[in-house]
Amino acid sequence: MKTILIGFVLLTIAVLFPSFADNAAQTLPIPPLLESEILRDGTKLFRLEADEGERKFLNGKTTHTLGYNGDYLGPSIRVNRGDEVIIRVNNSLREPTTVHWHGADVPAESDGGPHQGIAPGESWDAVFRVQQQAATLWYHPHFVGTTGEQVYEGLAGLFIIEDENSGNLNLPMEYGVDDIPVILQERRFDRNGKFSYQPSMPDKMHGYFGNKILVNGAILPYKNVPRGPVRLRMLNGSNSSLLRITFDGLSKVYQVASDGGFLEKPVSLSYLVLSPGERAEVIADFSLANGTSVIMNAESNGGEIYDALEFRPVGVRQPAWEPMKSLVTVEDIPESEASITRRFAMQSGMGARMTINGKVMNMDRIDERLRLGDTEIWEIENSDGMGGGMMGGMNQPHSFHVHAVQFRILDINGRAPPEQLAGWKDTVLLWPGDRVRIIARYNSYKGLYMYHCHLLEHEDNGMMGQFLIE
Ligand code: C2O
Ligand code: CU
Ligand code: CU
Repeated sequence: MKTILIGFVLLTIAVLFPSFADNAAQTLPIPPLLESEILRDGTKLFRLEADEGERKFLNGKTTHTLGYNGDYLGPSIRVNRGDEVIIRVNNSLREPTTVHWHGADVPAESDGGPHQGIAPGESWDAVFRVQQQAATLWYHPHFVGTTGEQVYEGLAGLFIIEDENSGNLNLPMEYGVDDIPVILQERRFDRNGKFSYQPSMPDKMHGYFGNKILVNGAILPYKNVPRGPVRLRMLNGSNSSLLRITFDGLSKVYQVASDGGFLEKPVSLSYLVLSPGERAEVIADFSLANGTSVIMNAESNGGEIYDALEFRPVGVRQPAWEPMKSLVTVEDIPESEASITRRFAMQSGMGARMTINGKVMNMDRIDERLRLGDTEIWEIENSDGMGGGMMGGMNQPHSFHVHAVQFRILDINGRAPPEQLAGWKDTVLLWPGDRVRIIARYNSYKGLYMYHCHLLEHEDNGMMGQFLIE
């Protein structure tokens, strides 16, 4: 009798408030781990297929999407340091695409930048040896001019590297259980619940902000988690939105890794800021949660504040997590080793002419020539500060990303970086007027690589350059 009554009440609610019923909390989707085929010589062969799809994100309304091996986003690719891998990408889209391994140390021909276009119906092999330390990297398209749209519609996935150290650290590592991918993407849905990626002039200048935030492709999903330490592999996969992340119900989390691998030791933080393309691995200790749920909030610089993801701690309360004294040794690159300091000024111009050193991207122009084995300092300036720049005060943030290397931040406006930015990085946020110096060793492969703003509307409108290592 009771069940019937409850059923009736729920039915009534569903009839009266259809959107309430449609939006009943959904559990957090976990991108599957991609299986590989082991070839005779031990090489791991992974297969990705970029294809069109559709998905209902909002109120049961269907939108066109893109995905790898599915309708939206792609599987997580997990490899070990030392693995030889081939990733075979099939392009089943009706337009060219590429797949770039963001943060990975790979040969230029396998980098998946704008020069490695895959025509519709064709396939392409990325071939490389995993030679860098454990890290949470990601993959996404990088075709010139259409990166923003293809990522927006769903082409992105995680690329996770493990190594001996990561296996021995005693960090949570059960994928999808206490080691959880968290891909955050601010998206704009129109009245019909559709993605409509049509950036206007202001969108190109400031970024394509949204009105919802997706976590692994779901709106405010929930995740049951153990009442103990849980590792979150967070990626800001938004096109252009900067996200400030807090945990309502936890006063702090510990960041253990940045873009390119572990920090020297866990860093206690009350909030995190991630610009597009940046990653952070954090330990959220749910033994410290008082209530029945912890909400991850995300505030976008577009102005929205979202409830993004609900954690529901279950099971017995474990003892509080003890942060380890050391995670890894992050080796310093002495400034004296650098052979040159190059300067890069990022600036917005009239008509969304987005430039670095006054130039918009040109596929036929090599902007910088480096020698293999050299160490270099790059000094990057966001010239769109208040009162600065040709526009007389764009007040526009940018995020600078370099292919081929992981770098260290030497200083931000003359000051040493905060601990969470003091490890290996491949993308760095520059607030308006900021000046950041980074140092890296360009010692892996010869070839042509890209540097660019990772706000995808900026990248697509020219804020990108090419460097040749020879
Ligand atoms: Cu994540 Cu050149 O990009
Ligand atoms: Cu990249
Ligand atoms: Cu930018």
